[in-house]
Amino acid sequence: MKTILHIDSSARRGDNPVSGHGSISRRLGARFIREWTQHSSAHRVIHRDVGLCPPPFISQDWIAAAFTPPAQRSPAQVELLALSDQLIDEVRRADVIVITAPMYNYGMPAALKAWFDQIVRVNETFTFDLDRGDFPLAPVFSGKTLVLLASTGEFGFGLGGVREHMNHLGPHIEVLGHYLGVERFHEIRVEYQEFGDDRHAASIERARRAVVDLAGELIGSTPKKWPPDTASAALR
Ligand SMILES: Cc1cc2nc3c(=O)[nH]c(=O)nc-3n(C[C@H](O)[C@H](O)[C@H](O)COP(=O)(O)O)c2cc1C
Repeated sequence: MKTILHIDSSARRGDNPVSGHGSISRRLGARFIREWTQHSSAHRVIHRDVGLCPPPFISQDWIAAAFTPPAQRSPAQVELLALSDQLIDEVRRADVIVITAPMYNYGMPAALKAWFDQIVRVNETFTFDLDRGDFPLAPVFSGKTLVLLASTGEFGFGLGGVREHMNHLGPHIEVLGHYLGVERFHEIRVEYQEFGDDRHAASIERARRAVVDLAGELIGSTPKKWPPDTASAALR
């Protein structure tokens, strides 16, 4: 039985009623989950929508509570960390973490960063020990897989691309994943959304195929052949 933690972070809904404004990353995520659940009989899915329901930003009091040993926390501090505890528990239970994310200002949405700030927590998801020398942080969990399904308006954010140096989305999430016990990172990205041309349609099509193949690979089944959709087919 594998547990998938599915995090959506676009401010846009997948079923946006304004034509052409549906979230592309959310739809990729929905496709991944559908593919997984159709082909694996043993699974559990935990869904968090931080895009439509963002966690609060951490505060001075939150940080003080997190650094207070659990037995010494006041009732107010326990309460302040309650959501963080719950979000961390969801990460603890997950074998596969699927994050869908738009690129905003060349990085992740603030709502997703707020989620990471709530869960990358000392003595919960990582330990800190100066005996480790120049790299004192070590993850508590291990063996997890992280799948990032992203969408960008511009293009060329991949390795060797014209905007590789401007991509602070995938590389940032990959680094943070290490502190959640992630050992395998996969990214599938749709590009060209702002151009809305054939390159965008082709990028969507490639991503849809890649999502199906990756879900199959992670389930451990042979990826099935993709049906002959046209390149301009909308995500569903
Ligand atoms: C506030 C905002 C900031 C954005 N910043 C960037 C950016 O820095 N680079 C880029 O390529 N696209 C940018 N875009 C375009 C989005 O990445 C693109 O629309 C993407 O498809 C959004 O994901 P979604 O379809 O899942 O909502 C931005 C869009 C918004 C709304």
